[in-house]
Amino acid sequence: MYNLIDGKLVSAYIKDTVKEKTAELKAAGKEITLAVIIVGDDPASRVYVNNKKKACEYVGFRSLEYALPAETTEDELISLIEKLNNDSSVNGILCQLPVPAHINDEKVIDAISPEKDVDGFSKINVGKLWVGDYDLAACTPMGVMELLRYYNIEISGKNCVIIGRSNIVGKPMAALLLEENGTVTVCHSRTKNLAEVTSKADILVAAVGRAGFVTADMVKEGAVVIDVGINRNASGKLCGDVDFEKVKEKVSYITPVPGGCGPMTIALLMKNTLIAAEKQSNK
Ligand code: GUN
Repeated sequence: MYNLIDGKLVSAYIKDTVKEKTAELKAAGKEITLAVIIVGDDPASRVYVNNKKKACEYVGFRSLEYALPAETTEDELISLIEKLNNDSSVNGILCQLPVPAHINDEKVIDAISPEKDVDGFSKINVGKLWVGDYDLAACTPMGVMELLRYYNIEISGKNCVIIGRSNIVGKPMAALLLEENGTVTVCHSRTKNLAEVTSKADILVAAVGRAGFVTADMVKEGAVVIDVGINRNASGKLCGDVDFEKVKEKVSYITPVPGGCGPMTIALLMKNTLIAAEKQSNK
């Protein structure tokens, strides 16, 4: 019998904790503000940004949206970020990715002041994560850590296998699991004998971006399977990277899609914004 990891439940718990703390700060005269920048009109990005704004409203943050046209230049975008960096009423800044191809996303991310980089994507925050001295780390892998913690899933000494090496999920996921003393392997498109590697995983994190990529033969009996993928299958239905129906029969714990990691990313964005605001006011 498998256990379903309920990301809706855990994300609600985290958002409610943030909401309570935000109300306390508000009562003391401190308002928290998140600035969200979106460039162009990618429909998926629009949905994500709307959900982020809704979450801000729920926890009691002020949210500022900067919806810029697709033709915006890199200099214009960086000027806006610099303005927000210098605005002490703004606690968190995020630029929704992807940005249009003529803009260098690395430059944009690194223009955000590390203290306000609530995505945890800047080189300073990534470096801090890898030396184990971090406060703002990427929201999706931080959300996975919160799920593992909530369900008392032990990481120390376990074989943790991540499929995918992106800067947003795979790499920070590796750092966070390593920090908790997991034995971490990161697989990617050039990995040889992938199924052999993944079938040794006690904790398997799939962050590939391909529907049904992880099949039952790739999973060890009793493993914990975390599905970070958000894809559409051939019939347009939202699904993860894992063949959920078959894999669930083998595992001890598994996240569904939707309702697993997705809601956690936004909850952790709220938590990161609160952490950023608290650190700024303690300076
Ligand atoms: N695009 C996909 N995921 C993310 C995320 O977590 N943050 C930002 N800024 N853009 C994204």
